[in-house]
Amino acid sequence: MKKGLFITFEGADGCGKTTQMNLLKDFLVKKGYDVVVTREPGGKGLGEKIREILLNYDGEVSDRCESFLFLADRAQNIDVIINPAMEQGKIVLCDRHTDSTAAYQGYGRGLDIKQINYLNHLATAGKKPDLTLVFDIDTETSMERVGKDKDRMESVGIEFQKRVRNGYLELAKKEPERIQVIDASKSIEEIHRYVLETIQKYID
Ligand code: TYD
Repeated sequence: MKKGLFITFEGADGCGKTTQMNLLKDFLVKKGYDVVVTREPGGKGLGEKIREILLNYDGEVSDRCESFLFLADRAQNIDVIINPAMEQGKIVLCDRHTDSTAAYQGYGRGLDIKQINYLNHLATAGKKPDLTLVFDIDTETSMERVGKDKDRMESVGIEFQKRVRNGYLELAKKEPERIQVIDASKSIEEIHRYVLETIQKYID
């Protein structure tokens, strides 16, 4: 069976990961690789419907309900997009994945990390990214980048975003092999070069 490669892009809101994911995608496609891009929440179809609720619903949402919606979307993304692409030997780039739930619902909202790890495990049926890039930048700068037009998650507040950022750094300490932290305060070109250096050994 073909192996495929699964890379996830993580970081607090406004860290610039989506720009970098798209640059990497263009690079890999030019090199002739078969690349599939997806995102969480979202992806396609039902995932986009769940995304709509998660980012725009303006009534009360409990922290646990929020977690389960992210996890439901993840299960769909794994089953419908990620695993089928991997089985065909493709490179899958995913904008946010399991570490977002650990950082936002765990470190950010304060839910139990062990439980979140277990729920993530159920949602992914045990699949793990081969590589995770965490784009790290100070919270004041990232919030400035987000600007005034904030969705439900971005509106929680600056202290929440700081906990999320620190959460990612903690996660990276726990899994240094899989999670690479990238200084996202540099220019787009510099960060792109660093991303290319980091992924090189995975595509060789
Ligand atoms: P999105 O617009 O995709 O944010 P970004 O462009 O910064 O990636 O919105 C996703 C939001 O949902 C973002 O604020 C992070 C949050 N989120 C969680 O809280 N938990 C999760 O498990 C995931 C996947 C995302």
